[in-house]
Amino acid sequence: MAEHLRLGVNIDHVATVRNARGSAYPDPVRAALLAEAAGADGITAHLREDRRHITDADIAALTDRLRLPLNLEMAATPEMQAIALRHRPHAVCLVPERREERTTEGGLDVARDENRLAHFIAPLRAAGCRVSIFVAADRAQIEAAARIGAEVVELHTGAYCDLHHAGRPDERDAELARLTEMAALASGLGLEVHAGHGLTYDTVGPVAAIPELRELNIGHFLIGEAIFRGLGPAIAEMRARMDAARAAAA
Ligand code: PXP
Repeated sequence: MAEHLRLGVNIDHVATVRNARGSAYPDPVRAALLAEAAGADGITAHLREDRRHITDADIAALTDRLRLPLNLEMAATPEMQAIALRHRPHAVCLVPERREERTTEGGLDVARDENRLAHFIAPLRAAGCRVSIFVAADRAQIEAAARIGAEVVELHTGAYCDLHHAGRPDERDAELARLTEMAALASGLGLEVHAGHGLTYDTVGPVAAIPELRELNIGHFLIGEAIFRGLGPAIAEMRARMDAARAAAA
Protein backbone atom coordinates (compact mmCIF):
# COMPACT_ATOMS: atom_id res chain seq x y z
CA MET A 1 0.00 0.00 0.00
CA ALA A 2 1.20 3.51 -0.83
CA GLU A 3 2.61 5.44 2.13
CA HIS A 4 1.00 8.54 3.61
CA LEU A 5 1.16 11.50 1.24
CA ARG A 6 2.16 14.65 3.09
CA LEU A 7 0.64 18.01 2.27
CA GLY A 8 2.96 21.00 2.36
CA VAL A 9 1.01 24.26 2.31
CA ASN A 10 2.76 27.11 0.51
CA ILE A 11 1.91 30.43 2.19
CA ASP A 12 3.65 32.80 -0.26
CA HIS A 13 0.47 34.40 -1.46
CA VAL A 14 -0.69 35.40 2.01
CA ALA A 15 2.40 37.61 1.88
CA THR A 16 1.48 38.73 -1.65
CA VAL A 17 -1.80 40.14 -0.33
CA ARG A 18 -0.06 41.78 2.63
CA ASN A 19 2.60 43.35 0.42
CA ALA A 20 0.00 44.71 -2.03
CA ARG A 21 -0.77 47.34 0.60
CA GLY A 22 2.50 47.45 2.50
CA SER A 23 0.55 46.60 5.65
CA ALA A 24 1.38 44.19 8.49
CA TYR A 25 -1.53 41.86 7.62
CA PRO A 26 -2.50 39.24 6.60
CA ASP A 27 0.28 37.50 8.50
CA PRO A 28 1.82 34.43 6.79
CA VAL A 29 2.81 32.98 10.17
CA ARG A 30 -0.81 33.07 11.31
CA ALA A 31 -1.72 31.27 8.08
CA ALA A 32 0.95 28.66 8.73
CA LEU A 33 -0.35 28.00 12.26
CA LEU A 34 -3.88 27.69 10.90
CA ALA A 35 -2.67 25.32 8.18
CA GLU A 36 -1.10 23.16 10.85
CA ALA A 37 -4.40 22.97 12.71
CA ALA A 38 -6.19 22.09 9.44
CA GLY A 39 -4.01 19.06 8.73
CA ALA A 40 -0.98 20.33 6.82
CA ASP A 41 2.15 18.25 7.34
CA GLY A 42 4.56 21.05 6.48
CA ILE A 43 4.83 24.67 5.44
CA THR A 44 6.56 25.89 2.30
CA ALA A 45 7.75 29.43 1.65
CA HIS A 46 9.72 30.79 -1.30
CA LEU A 47 12.13 33.59 -0.44
CA ARG A 48 12.61 35.18 -3.85
CA GLU A 49 15.57 37.33 -4.75
CA ASP A 50 13.21 40.32 -5.25
CA ARG A 51 11.28 39.60 -1.97
CA ARG A 52 8.00 40.07 -3.83
CA HIS A 53 6.10 38.04 -1.23
CA ILE A 54 7.94 36.26 1.59
CA THR A 55 10.54 38.41 3.35
CA ASP A 56 13.59 37.65 5.46
CA ALA A 57 11.59 38.62 8.56
CA ASP A 58 8.90 36.06 7.58
CA ILE A 59 11.51 33.30 7.39
CA ALA A 60 12.86 34.29 10.81
CA ALA A 61 9.35 34.34 12.31
CA LEU A 62 8.41 31.01 10.71
CA THR A 63 11.59 29.37 11.99
CA ASP A 64 10.86 30.68 15.50
CA ARG A 65 7.17 29.92 15.78
CA LEU A 66 6.37 26.94 13.56
CA ARG A 67 6.24 23.41 14.90
CA LEU A 68 5.75 21.88 11.46
CA PRO A 69 8.76 21.32 9.22
CA LEU A 70 9.62 24.34 7.07
CA ASN A 71 10.52 23.81 3.42
CA LEU A 72 12.43 26.87 2.21
CA GLU A 73 12.27 27.31 -1.56
CA MET A 74 15.10 29.38 -2.95
CA ALA A 75 17.40 29.98 -5.89
CA ALA A 76 20.91 28.48 -5.76
CA THR A 77 22.68 31.76 -5.00
CA PRO A 78 25.29 32.58 -2.33
CA GLU A 79 22.88 35.02 -0.64
CA MET A 80 20.19 32.35 -0.26
CA GLN A 81 22.70 29.74 0.84
CA ALA A 82 23.83 32.05 3.67
CA ILE A 83 20.20 32.62 4.75
CA ALA A 84 19.47 28.88 4.74
CA LEU A 85 22.61 28.17 6.77
CA ARG A 86 21.56 30.82 9.29
CA HIS A 87 18.05 29.45 9.78
CA ARG A 88 18.62 25.75 9.05
CA PRO A 89 15.11 24.90 7.86
CA HIS A 90 14.03 21.26 7.77
CA ALA A 91 14.31 21.28 3.98
CA VAL A 92 15.65 23.47 1.21
CA CYS A 93 14.11 23.17 -2.24
CA LEU A 94 16.24 24.63 -5.03
CA VAL A 95 14.23 26.28 -7.79
CA PRO A 96 15.16 28.27 -10.89
CA GLU A 97 14.34 31.96 -10.60
CA ARG A 98 14.02 34.71 -13.15
CA ARG A 99 13.02 38.20 -12.05
CA GLU A 100 10.62 38.71 -14.93
CA GLU A 101 8.63 35.50 -14.36
CA ARG A 102 5.30 35.56 -12.55
CA THR A 103 5.89 32.15 -10.99
CA THR A 104 8.47 29.36 -11.19
CA GLU A 105 8.13 28.47 -14.84
CA GLY A 106 10.26 25.37 -15.22
CA GLY A 107 12.43 22.96 -13.31
CA LEU A 108 16.04 23.58 -12.39
CA ASP A 109 18.55 22.61 -15.09
CA VAL A 110 20.59 20.55 -12.68
CA ALA A 111 22.14 18.50 -15.53
CA ARG A 112 23.78 21.62 -16.96
CA ASP A 113 24.98 22.93 -13.60
CA GLU A 114 25.89 19.67 -11.91
CA ASN A 115 29.32 20.54 -10.57
CA ARG A 116 28.37 23.91 -9.13
CA LEU A 117 25.20 22.54 -7.55
CA ALA A 118 27.04 19.60 -5.99
CA HIS A 119 29.29 22.12 -4.20
CA PHE A 120 26.34 24.39 -3.42
CA ILE A 121 24.33 21.74 -1.58
CA ALA A 122 27.21 20.17 0.38
CA PRO A 123 27.18 22.74 3.25
CA LEU A 124 23.38 22.67 3.38
CA ARG A 125 23.42 18.92 3.83
CA ALA A 126 26.21 19.20 6.40
CA ALA A 127 24.01 21.68 8.32
CA GLY A 128 21.23 19.07 8.46
CA CYS A 129 18.88 20.45 5.79
CA ARG A 130 17.20 17.98 3.46
CA VAL A 131 17.99 19.13 -0.05
CA SER A 132 15.28 18.90 -2.68
CA ILE A 133 15.59 19.88 -6.33
CA PHE A 134 12.59 21.11 -8.31
CA VAL A 135 12.77 19.43 -11.72
CA ALA A 136 10.66 18.79 -14.77
CA ALA A 137 9.62 15.18 -15.36
CA ASP A 138 12.83 14.55 -17.26
CA ARG A 139 15.16 11.57 -16.90
CA ALA A 140 18.43 13.51 -17.37
CA GLN A 141 17.48 16.03 -14.66
CA ILE A 142 16.46 13.36 -12.17
CA GLU A 143 19.61 11.33 -12.75
CA ALA A 144 21.71 14.48 -12.28
CA ALA A 145 19.88 15.31 -9.03
CA ALA A 146 20.71 11.84 -7.72
CA ARG A 147 24.37 12.19 -8.76
CA ILE A 148 24.89 15.48 -6.91
CA GLY A 149 23.63 13.98 -3.65
CA ALA A 150 20.15 15.52 -3.33
CA GLU A 151 17.82 13.54 -1.10
CA VAL A 152 14.58 14.65 -2.74
CA VAL A 153 13.29 15.67 -6.16
CA GLU A 154 10.09 17.66 -6.50
CA LEU A 155 8.43 17.03 -9.86
CA HIS A 156 6.95 20.11 -11.57
CA THR A 157 3.23 19.52 -12.13
CA GLY A 158 2.64 22.91 -13.79
CA ALA A 159 2.54 21.55 -17.36
CA TYR A 160 0.07 18.81 -16.39
CA CYS A 161 -2.21 21.35 -14.66
CA ASP A 162 -2.00 23.88 -17.51
CA LEU A 163 -2.93 21.22 -20.09
CA HIS A 164 -5.89 20.17 -17.94
CA HIS A 165 -7.24 23.69 -17.64
CA ALA A 166 -6.60 24.36 -21.35
CA GLY A 167 -8.90 21.45 -22.23
CA ARG A 168 -6.16 19.34 -23.85
CA PRO A 169 -6.80 15.93 -22.22
CA ASP A 170 -4.57 13.81 -24.47
CA GLU A 171 -1.50 15.95 -23.82
CA ARG A 172 -2.44 16.20 -20.13
CA ASP A 173 -2.59 12.41 -19.87
CA ALA A 174 0.75 12.10 -21.65
CA GLU A 175 2.29 14.50 -19.11
CA LEU A 176 0.71 12.55 -16.25
CA ALA A 177 2.21 9.35 -17.68
CA ARG A 178 5.59 11.08 -17.78
CA LEU A 179 5.21 12.21 -14.14
CA THR A 180 4.27 8.65 -13.14
CA GLU A 181 7.21 7.10 -14.97
CA MET A 182 9.68 9.67 -13.63
CA ALA A 183 8.43 9.25 -10.05
CA ALA A 184 9.23 5.54 -10.34
CA LEU A 185 12.62 6.29 -11.86
CA ALA A 186 13.51 8.78 -9.11
CA SER A 187 12.37 6.45 -6.37
CA GLY A 188 14.43 3.63 -7.92
CA LEU A 189 17.49 5.89 -7.72
CA GLY A 190 16.90 6.28 -3.98
CA LEU A 191 15.38 9.77 -4.13
CA GLU A 192 12.31 10.75 -2.14
CA VAL A 193 9.75 12.09 -4.59
CA HIS A 194 7.56 15.16 -4.10
CA ALA A 195 5.42 17.07 -6.60
CA GLY A 196 3.79 20.45 -6.91
CA HIS A 197 2.90 23.60 -8.80
CA GLY A 198 -0.51 24.64 -10.03
CA LEU A 199 -2.45 21.85 -8.30
CA THR A 200 -6.18 22.40 -7.69
CA TYR A 201 -9.08 20.27 -6.47
CA ASP A 202 -9.60 19.19 -10.10
CA THR A 203 -6.04 18.14 -10.79
CA VAL A 204 -4.76 16.79 -7.47
CA GLY A 205 -6.33 13.31 -7.59
CA PRO A 206 -4.35 11.65 -10.41
CA VAL A 207 -1.10 13.09 -9.03
CA ALA A 208 -1.88 12.00 -5.47
CA ALA A 209 -2.46 8.48 -6.82
CA ILE A 210 1.17 8.12 -8.00
CA PRO A 211 2.40 5.61 -5.41
CA GLU A 212 6.02 6.79 -5.12
CA LEU A 213 5.04 10.32 -4.13
CA ARG A 214 5.57 11.27 -0.49
CA GLU A 215 4.61 14.96 -0.49
CA LEU A 216 2.65 17.53 -2.48
CA ASN A 217 3.32 21.27 -2.13
CA ILE A 218 0.29 23.41 -2.88
CA GLY A 219 -0.20 27.13 -2.44
CA HIS A 220 -1.80 29.52 -4.91
CA PHE A 221 -5.07 27.64 -5.35
CA LEU A 222 -5.53 27.11 -1.59
CA ILE A 223 -4.96 30.77 -0.74
CA GLY A 224 -7.46 31.75 -3.44
CA GLU A 225 -10.01 29.22 -2.23
CA ALA A 226 -9.56 30.52 1.31
CA ILE A 227 -11.21 33.77 0.22
CA PHE A 228 -14.45 31.89 -0.30
CA ARG A 229 -14.49 29.29 2.45
CA GLY A 230 -11.63 30.04 4.85
CA LEU A 231 -8.14 28.58 4.87
CA GLY A 232 -8.87 25.70 7.26
CA PRO A 233 -11.78 24.23 5.25
CA ALA A 234 -9.94 24.83 1.95
CA ILE A 235 -6.96 22.81 3.21
CA ALA A 236 -9.16 20.13 4.77
CA GLU A 237 -10.85 19.50 1.42
CA MET A 238 -7.49 19.23 -0.38
CA ARG A 239 -6.34 16.79 2.29
CA ALA A 240 -9.55 14.74 1.83
CA ARG A 241 -9.15 14.64 -1.96
CA MET A 242 -5.53 13.51 -1.65
CA ASP A 243 -6.51 10.76 0.81
CA ALA A 244 -9.43 9.59 -1.37
CA ALA A 245 -7.23 9.37 -4.48
CA ARG A 246 -4.57 7.53 -2.51
CA ALA A 247 -7.09 5.06 -1.06
CA ALA A 248 -8.72 4.43 -4.46
CA ALA A 249 -5.32 3.69 -6.03
CA ALA A 250 -4.25 1.28 -3.27
N1 PXP B 1 6.55 23.67 -5.52
C1 PXP B 1 7.46 24.58 -5.95
C2 PXP B 1 8.88 24.16 -6.08
C3 PXP B 1 7.07 25.91 -6.23
O1 PXP B 1 7.99 26.79 -6.66
C4 PXP B 1 5.73 26.28 -6.03
C5 PXP B 1 5.31 27.69 -6.26
O2 PXP B 1 5.98 28.53 -5.41
C6 PXP B 1 4.83 25.31 -5.57
C7 PXP B 1 5.26 24.01 -5.34
C8 PXP B 1 3.39 25.62 -5.29
O3 PXP B 1 2.76 26.00 -6.47
P1 PXP B 1 1.32 26.65 -6.40
O4 PXP B 1 1.44 27.89 -5.61
O5 PXP B 1 0.98 26.86 -7.83
O6 PXP B 1 0.42 25.63 -5.73
